[in-house]
Amino acid sequence: MIRFWVLVVFLVSTVYGEGADHETFKNCSRIEFCTTLRGLTLEDDEQFTADVKNVGGTNRVATIPLSNGNKESLTLELTLLASHTIRLKVLEINHTRYEIPYVLNGEPEAANFSVKTDDTSATFTPDANDYNDYHVVVKSGPPFTVEFYYGDNQEVVFTSERLVMRNSETSHPFTFGVTFLSAQMLYGLSHHAFNLGLPETADGSMDPIRLRNADISYYEINDTLGLYGSVPVIYGHSVNWTSGVFLHNAAEQWIDIGYEDDKASAYFMVESATLDLFVLLGPNPKSVVRQYTTLTGVAHMPQIWVLGYHQCRWSYWTQEDAKSVVANMDKYDFPMDVLWLDDGHSNKNRYFEWNPENYSDPIEMQQNISSTGRRIVTILDPHIKVADDYAVYTGAKEKYFVKWANGSNFEGICWPGLASWIDFLNEEASDYYGSWYRYDRFNKSTPTLAGAWNDMNEPSVFDNNLEKTLPFEVLHNGTVEHRNIHNMYGFLQTRSTHKGLLIRDNSTVRPFILTRSHFAGSQRYAVMWTGDNTAEWPYIRLSYSECLTANLLGMVICGADVAGFFDNRTSADEELSQRWYQAAIWLPFFRGHSEKTTARREPYLFSEDAQVVIRNALKLRYKHIPVFYTLFFEYTLTGEPIIRPFFYHYPSMLTYDDHLLLGTDILARPVFEESATKVTVTLPGEEPALWYRVDDESWTSYSAGTELEIDVDISASPFFYRGGSIISRKDREKGSTTDMVDDPFTVYVNLDADSAASGTLYVDDYYSFDYQNYDNFLYILMKYIPESHGLDITDLSVNSTGINLLFQRIVINSPTGKSFYHIRHRKCR
Ligand code: GLC
Repeated sequence: MIRFWVLVVFLVSTVYGEGADHETFKNCSRIEFCTTLRGLTLEDDEQFTADVKNVGGTNRVATIPLSNGNKESLTLELTLLASHTIRLKVLEINHTRYEIPYVLNGEPEAANFSVKTDDTSATFTPDANDYNDYHVVVKSGPPFTVEFYYGDNQEVVFTSERLVMRNSETSHPFTFGVTFLSAQMLYGLSHHAFNLGLPETADGSMDPIRLRNADISYYEINDTLGLYGSVPVIYGHSVNWTSGVFLHNAAEQWIDIGYEDDKASAYFMVESATLDLFVLLGPNPKSVVRQYTTLTGVAHMPQIWVLGYHQCRWSYWTQEDAKSVVANMDKYDFPMDVLWLDDGHSNKNRYFEWNPENYSDPIEMQQNISSTGRRIVTILDPHIKVADDYAVYTGAKEKYFVKWANGSNFEGICWPGLASWIDFLNEEASDYYGSWYRYDRFNKSTPTLAGAWNDMNEPSVFDNNLEKTLPFEVLHNGTVEHRNIHNMYGFLQTRSTHKGLLIRDNSTVRPFILTRSHFAGSQRYAVMWTGDNTAEWPYIRLSYSECLTANLLGMVICGADVAGFFDNRTSADEELSQRWYQAAIWLPFFRGHSEKTTARREPYLFSEDAQVVIRNALKLRYKHIPVFYTLFFEYTLTGEPIIRPFFYHYPSMLTYDDHLLLGTDILARPVFEESATKVTVTLPGEEPALWYRVDDESWTSYSAGTELEIDVDISASPFFYRGGSIISRKDREKGSTTDMVDDPFTVYVNLDADSAASGTLYVDDYYSFDYQNYDNFLYILMKYIPESHGLDITDLSVNSTGINLLFQRIVINSPTGKSFYHIRHRKCR
């Protein structure tokens, strides 16, 4: 009875609520450890001293005893790693804290080190020729500090004036501080609904920033509540330096951010598990991102269709509806690649089973959609309906669910009613769940089901008293309290799904998974979207800062529901939708989606005028897919973001998050404002650098370092190509990437002031792992030759058996005008 009541309340607030539910989702003052620790000041005898004369450990891991006047003893552990990264742990002597598995991409490479000590400090230097240009100094205190130097520059300090490790029967929180000595701005701590730069909270004007994965409906902008994912990474940035920290801990945490002169600080308050901190020495955005992605990995290449347009809706309730959406997209000439099936396709949220009435012939539906060159993705949530006639449940019932301490399965309410949650930390349970993706287990599934949508995996449990998630005391793998792994539950689901999809397809195709919840390292398994946003103007712009931040943190394929999930927008709100489509084409993941009570808003339902605008936006996206694909390949080599905020390449431009760079060469500044007739565009760089305006097809060149007031009408949103770039597009207009595979490239050569231009292009078979296993891909560097108006092409690849590259046309843009050169189907090799 109580459960029913809870469910009803939830549904009502989901559908009709406006604004996040602050009753359910607590602020710091309602969380005991946050309130106590936020106001903490330590007495003198609580401050720790580092016994720098007693450095112990091994030749790879140094240990230093810590103690205070309260007779508390701790151990500081330091490991000096390759890639200008240091690992720092603070451990208790008589208490073992949980250390999370799977998140790191293998064991980080540690160096031998040498140490010099004097009365008050110990200095550690790695014995490695290629990275011995950094060192770490531990100063005894009290309070002790750990200072991190790159060359002679001291950039990051671990501070202990508020270091505590508390232990009672039921709670084990800890705190510590980090100061970025020359940072003007801090970035990171995804996922939140605020601007790119992290807001000041230490002055008490806002709650600390919370990282606790949560299913928050109607999330609000500028709220420090944690949303669906958590990546505990902060980058400190100034014009001259960038450094960072990564807290390898998946428990709930709150972080106070402070700015003072040219310094910034972060004070971490963490609910449980281990203080395991990686310090990233930088010295610039590119290297700090590289250092982080070296630790947590990068994604494999996506299949090409992942970069196309995805059409979703909660829900297409019948197979006829699903087929007709694809047919209408074709009829009205809107390109698309994937039709998404939300929970309406399932047997009342018994995932891996089709709805017997409305999806009675799923094979025929899959064949129908596949025959158009499109694919299908279905939703598969981690809650499993409690039902003794449901094979996914009965197979898991004994051993594979999250349990109470007394050994009984945890049961709670989610979409299917009473459900249990797969215990993905248990390797056997993880493999069990993954096995349901196999064609022989997911009845009537075919390769047209090309990927999985793992949703509600914070995990969401419809119990407002528990902030809509699992109780923190339930157990994973027999002994691990949920509190210790809460923020990585979604990560674990995608890890299981990824393995399941690999096995399903004999590792022949690259798995695709969309996840709502994510953690550090999720990029190795899944792509993300920003969850249940709202069809309001500020949310278009928000999608840029959310996805720019995700890109800096390795999750490069990111997008937001177009044109807003909640709110009953109709085609009367066409302006918003048109602007949203124009903005969304530059985000790596591009999916239309809407909540079930909203008016239908597939592109062909808009007025004819609006259809023209949306069609043009979609076609523009498809032309640029080769740019995304090439950047993605480069990301697999370097961890570099696909979309980048200005500061990434122009270090003094700290706060721009309404402009986006796609790689280095495309600049988008969409219209985020209602009824706008003018937009201000900032062109980064300095003269003589220049940018070409492309959206109005004038190809007018403008000097870098200027601010332009641009007249805009609804037909397009401003974007520019960088002078000096070569951009390869596929300009033939087709219905899907399937139809474009063999199309030739049109190469846009955008000359700089010296008539020079260069660019790269990557092509492979678009689907398999041959690019990884056999280096089978084509990666070329093109340089413009002014004398012949031709291209000098250097092949940077090793083995490109069977991969052809066809060029159709070269378009040369110079400050004085534009010229075209046709190349009839010239093969590169
Ligand atoms: C969640 C998802 C949303 C989906 C809905 C129903 O709210 O975020 O995208 O449509 O669940 O499955």
